[in-house]
Amino acid sequence: MDIPITRLQQPKPKPPDDELGFGQIFTDHMFLLDGVADTGWSNPRIVPYGPLSLEPATVGLHYAQAIFEGLKAYRSPDDKILLFRPDRNIDRFNRSAVRLCVPPIDPELFLSALTQLVKLDQDWVPHAPGTSLYIRPVAFACDPDLRVRPSHTYQFFIILSPVAAYYAEGFKPLRIRVEDRYVRAVRGGTGAAKTAGNYGSSLFAGEEAHKDGFAQVLWLDGVEQQYIEEVGSMNIAFVLGDELVTPPATGTILEGVTRASVLQLAQDFGMQVAERPITITEVLTAARNGLLREVFGAGTAAVISPVSELSYKDETVVVNNGQVGPLAQHLFDELSAIQRGLKPDRHGWMVEVDSSL
Ligand code: COI
Repeated sequence: MDIPITRLQQPKPKPPDDELGFGQIFTDHMFLLDGVADTGWSNPRIVPYGPLSLEPATVGLHYAQAIFEGLKAYRSPDDKILLFRPDRNIDRFNRSAVRLCVPPIDPELFLSALTQLVKLDQDWVPHAPGTSLYIRPVAFACDPDLRVRPSHTYQFFIILSPVAAYYAEGFKPLRIRVEDRYVRAVRGGTGAAKTAGNYGSSLFAGEEAHKDGFAQVLWLDGVEQQYIEEVGSMNIAFVLGDELVTPPATGTILEGVTRASVLQLAQDFGMQVAERPITITEVLTAARNGLLREVFGAGTAAVISPVSELSYKDETVVVNNGQVGPLAQHLFDELSAIQRGLKPDRHGWMVEVDSSL
């Protein structure tokens, strides 16, 4: 499908790769699509990146009927532009859509929009190792209406942002607070959906943790506050003895694309892998017994983020002497190499964007 393009007259200056942070610089263009509950999505177009005009009564702003995704495009040394597993993000977007009463988007149209936008703004895909073009698709409810009900009208957009590491620490291990007062999700809630409300409601605990010097909080389950869930900006995994363990995706955590890829790569390395419930008590006991070898997060923005310290109530566990663990390093190297086209894509994860102009 050919999408009509209105080009920005004067392309914006691009920042040097070594000045990129995360998510504060946006490319020249964005993709837009209008949605109506009964008839679906129409009017695909690419236009210059810029403000949207919204009524103050817009439902999405009041009741968080809003969903999003995050995926990345990478530049290979021979200047191919590669998307990492976009089908997974599109599927998850549509699962979030169902949960939030947003009309799903035809996966073919979604992928076509992604690739045409990235193709148009391909000069914005940074070159340096550790950098990429972050892609943020969003759909939100547009009706001006204060009744609590699903909107009739919707806006979908895709914006692009050249990025480096998500955490200010870069690949340096993070200090994480295990949150014992607030919760992120409960059984039957929206924990598995990528919806704005999950992030808004996480901010307070995150800010409290930042004040005490932690990068993020690790959420426990919403009922017993015992079972490990996720960090919020990434899934979490533990090396216990010789096994890689991560909480199961049973409705309260995000089904991370990086999480799934890490589990596959660890199996490829010959490791034993388990998706099973794991309590904070088990983690602390393993640490005391010398069995907790590594802890790391996995996410699109976060890639692989090693954890140096877990702080739970008045107990602090230092992981792997505060150093990046061998598995986290190996996974980071392998995943980054596949994503940048430096190693064979054995699992068919990469989708090349036709970059011919
Ligand atoms: C991602 O990893 O893409 C996320 O959405 C996490 C965060 C930046 C919200």
